[in-house]
Amino acid sequence: MTPRLARVCATCLSHKINLRITSLARIQWVGTGPKSPDGDEDGSGAPVPSGPTIPPFSRSASRFGRRPLSPLERVSQMLPQESLSEEVWELREEKTREDYKDTETQTPETLKEDPDMHEDDESVLNQGKEVAHVLPEERVMCFGEVVLAEYRRKRRLELQKMFQLEKGCKLGSSWGSVAHDAIQGCHAGTVLRTSLGLPMLIRRPSLEEFTLFMKRGPAIAYPKDANAMLMMMDVNEGDCVLESGSGSGAMSLFLSRAVGSSGSVLSVEVREDHHRRAVLNYERWRSSWSLRSGKEWPENVHFHLGDLINAAPLLAGRSFNSVALDMINPHLALHTVVPHLHTGGVCAVYQANITQIIDLMEGLRCSTLPLVYERIIEVQYRDWLLAPSLKKDGSFHQRRKSPDEEATESENDEANDEGKGHERAAHFPFGSVPYIARPHPEQNGHTAFLVKLRKISR
Ligand SMILES: C[S@@+](CC[C@H](N)C(=O)[O-])C[C@H]1O[C@@H](n2cnc3c(N)ncnc32)[C@H](O)[C@@H]1O
Repeated sequence: MTPRLARVCATCLSHKINLRITSLARIQWVGTGPKSPDGDEDGSGAPVPSGPTIPPFSRSASRFGRRPLSPLERVSQMLPQESLSEEVWELREEKTREDYKDTETQTPETLKEDPDMHEDDESVLNQGKEVAHVLPEERVMCFGEVVLAEYRRKRRLELQKMFQLEKGCKLGSSWGSVAHDAIQGCHAGTVLRTSLGLPMLIRRPSLEEFTLFMKRGPAIAYPKDANAMLMMMDVNEGDCVLESGSGSGAMSLFLSRAVGSSGSVLSVEVREDHHRRAVLNYERWRSSWSLRSGKEWPENVHFHLGDLINAAPLLAGRSFNSVALDMINPHLALHTVVPHLHTGGVCAVYQANITQIIDLMEGLRCSTLPLVYERIIEVQYRDWLLAPSLKKDGSFHQRRKSPDEEATESENDEANDEGKGHERAAHFPFGSVPYIARPHPEQNGHTAFLVKLRKISR
């Protein structure tokens, strides 16, 4: 890790900037192969859902004293993954394998014997094997589909990468590579071994994950907020909805699913590059969906390039059950939009800053529009840590018995219990293991304020 990148990493951690990212901060390098898999220059999205990419940092590396990078390696790690040739990928993999061997020789025991390193890895792999029963209608993953690779260690998410399966390509990471050809033909949810022998879960992304990982133009409406907006707007199948701006197309996708094949969405965007990005993301989801399900995703979003404020001719003769606005100065668009909103319908507004909400409220106060403000909310999720409490050697702690419980147990039973300290989870009876349970130290920060406005008849 370069000193400059180390500083950025340390600053991010100390300021708790976009805390979800820190859980991915140990990603050293990831790529999906020698070329961009989908041809739209994005490589199927960044490895990190939002915010800056955090430089390499690996606890295992520091723990086992991984050697510092050479200047050439540092520069190579900063290059876009798509620009690397097949040879560079081979060399990288070779080097990672060597590094991995080095760490093995530097530890007193092999990594395999270190429960801290591998117990969970193995259990993940075994879980994958147990779920071998597939239903007849389940389709295997195929080339062209967008999939998600996940590597967890000690229940901690170390790598999450979305990419498109391409013949001959390879998913590369600091934890080894997996050939796309090996993924093709497997059922989603299969655990495969990387070239370094580590278990990598390969599955299909949910729509939420797709929107978080897809290539972005502007910031997206975060799924938690988009979900709340759908509730505010009471979007139903068959509805006709107006949205602006299209941005990166995340809200468009959620609306598309909510209104279904009998509904429609008109998505208006003023910037051409954002308009193109939204269309690309929408089309990529649709094509991946038809490959994974064998069914067509409804083609129910019409993306229009133009300014919503001057869109009266576009909206002429049309009416909408609800409206979603995620754009700058939404109050300036209300006079164009409100005449086309059903009476009793909701216009939901997404704004990042409370000062923008004040502008909106002030705009409403100064207008004669038949809109009433109902509520302003901020949607906050709180992540929790919940896991059995482990000792340093990876075995379970045992719940301390009360004197009464101890008195009722025979001496023999007690002796047996002592011997169980190093056994695996299945040998501990239900309720015998204490848990840690507390709010996760890494929480997501603020995303947006949501305003619910309703059209009334005066
Ligand atoms: C934050 S982004 C929207 C993100 C989108 N909701 C998503 O989930 O991906 C805001 C977008 O509004 C667009 N915009 C701003 N003013 C506009 C206007 N007057 N008419 C249409 N689009 C506008 C911007 O160009 C930008 O792409």
